Amino acid sequence: MGVKLGILGLGTVGTGTVELLLNNSQRHPLLSEIEVHRVGVRSLDKPRSVKLPTQKVTTDLETIVTDPDIEIVVEVMGGLEPARSLILQAIAHGKHVVTANKAVISRFGDEIFTAANQAGVYVLLEAAVGGGIPVIQPLKQSLGVNRIQAVTGIVNGTTNYILTRMQTEGSNFDAVLADAQRLGYAEADPTADIDGLDAADKIAILAALAFNGRINLGDVYCEGIRQVSKTDIAYADKLGFVIKLLAIAKRIQPESQTLSVRVHPTLVPKAHPLASINGVYNAILVEGEPLGQVMFFGPGAGAGATASAVSSDILNLVAILKSKPTNPHPLFTCRHHNYSSVAPISQLVTKFYTRFLTKDQPGVIGKLGTCFGQYGVSLESVVQTGFQGDLAEIVVVTHDVQEGDFRQALGEIQSMAAIDSIPSLFRVL
Ligand code: NAP
Ligand code: HSE
Repeated sequence: MGVKLGILGLGTVGTGTVELLLNNSQRHPLLSEIEVHRVGVRSLDKPRSVKLPTQKVTTDLETIVTDPDIEIVVEVMGGLEPARSLILQAIAHGKHVVTANKAVISRFGDEIFTAANQAGVYVLLEAAVGGGIPVIQPLKQSLGVNRIQAVTGIVNGTTNYILTRMQTEGSNFDAVLADAQRLGYAEADPTADIDGLDAADKIAILAALAFNGRINLGDVYCEGIRQVSKTDIAYADKLGFVIKLLAIAKRIQPESQTLSVRVHPTLVPKAHPLASINGVYNAILVEGEPLGQVMFFGPGAGAGATASAVSSDILNLVAILKSKPTNPHPLFTCRHHNYSSVAPISQLVTKFYTRFLTKDQPGVIGKLGTCFGQYGVSLESVVQTGFQGDLAEIVVVTHDVQEGDFRQALGEIQSMAAIDSIPSLFRVL
């Protein structure tokens, strides 16, 4: 007998998934054992590209998660509620869950996985990070024997598209954002993408898997790309960098249990593998021992990409249901019970790029250097190439420094009479 699916949502991801499942020739033979039994939507009147018998489609999503015939519930409706409650209800009714919802998992993962472990069901989420890129199951399985040191990703396509266009066209953020919205790459309300919140959800999930401990989303430091200007992109370019919105999770020291988990625009050396990831593409670089570096690259969004990831989770669950194991499969259950310790951003040790606007008078660079020196901030380069009106523009790149010390030095520099303003400050990879 086939495995019956209940699908919550028939938007981009739901439609792509149903289309893939209905058109299963030349794919894995187990797909032919799957039946799309019920699909939940908000509106029955909306025109749909995928045609389903009317009795399969409902606006009463509770009847799906409580339907005794359904073994797998696929949550691709998005949002926090009712998605969270419906997932919990599905689990309480003994159903396995597949979800693409990083916002729900990063906030309510503890509650959801605890409930799933107690109910003896699985919650799989390959599409939640990196869209079509397989990275969740690889972290759990193929890379599971490695000691992971760092996960560094470009995990938001919208911001990568905007930064790439700013870089290639020399355009301003506002102009590219407006164009990206017109072309449908950025949502009408792009806040979650632009302010780094979507990437923060995703790195919280990746960090939990890589470092075997849940991550409190409030511990993830998050800065978006609104403050990235074409001026900084041009300076970064001259200095040998591109600016990318990176999501980073790493041990603060190689052997430490404490992590640094953060999202911020970052100057990436042009020779680094992530520097050449452009447009809406995503990539995740994993560094582990003994493997070394491995990078996952591909489409981070879209119907086909997410359908591939969602359907692979469904396939794994069908395989488990078919083999009827009596004990929970250790590679599919969530095995985290504790939260990881995450260091505050002030303890981060990194290099900084900072742009100053100063009065054009002798000795300013010397004063900057002296003040930085007093706080133990060593400078890698100082360049003064341009003017903005009467003001000199000075760009400083530091060596590694503790962020707290660097901020203290900046505080003192800001109060100097010769300093007009500090328009930008970015961390350097
Ligand atoms: P979407 O196009 O907006 O589709 C959402 C679907 O859920 C629609 O069919 C909608 O019904 C239904 N729905 C939403 N709220 C509902 C409610 N309260 N009651 C009943 N039905 C409801 O969203 P999407 O882009 O497919 O994204 C779905 C999830 O996948 C999100 O968690 C998103 O973050 C994640 N994701 C998306 C992508 C991507 O490329 N789009 C990539 C990775 C992950 P109607 O059709 O009737 O409006
Ligand atoms: N808004 C997301 C992005 C979609 O731009 O990458 C996939 O999660």
